[in-house]
Amino acid sequence: MKAAVSAQTFKILILVLLVSIYNSLFFDKRLSNDNSISCSGCHNLANGGTDNLQFSIGVNGATGKINTPTVYNTHLNLAQFWDGQASNQIEQVSGPVENPLEMAATWPDIIRKLG
Ligand code: HEC
Repeated sequence: MKAAVSAQTFKILILVLLVSIYNSLFFDKRLSNDNSISCSGCHNLANGGTDNLQFSIGVNGATGKINTPTVYNTHLNLAQFWDGQASNQIEQVSGPVENPLEMAATWPDIIRKLG
């Protein structure tokens, strides 16, 4: 007999899958150009979601120009980043990945490395 999965259960399963992918990528250094830093390098979850530095250190020892905020509960923010330039986390996520002072990567490179 074929098991029926309701639309609601299906949505929850997809959400759980996306969250688990996102969680593993958060610790994956391959998101940076030289495989040296992951999101958690600056947003240390064991340290309040920050690195406790005035300015974070990105790839090749590059020093950022602005303090790293926590990532805890950021989904509740009205906007992302200190100046609110991203209205949600979908818009926000390419910021650190492509920032030359942070991860200095490109999505095609990341997809090639993860593939
Ligand atoms: C090199 C350090 C560094 C790395 C690596 C980094 N971030 Fe950040 N993150 C920052 C800084 C600095 C800001 C603040 C930037 C701004 O406001 O202009 C920030 C802001 C954020 C914010 C917005 C928080 C808020 O309150 O507005 C989120 C969410 C976030 N980062 C998630 C991530 C994710 C996900 C990754 C990995 C893909 C990542 N960060 C990688 C330094 C880093």
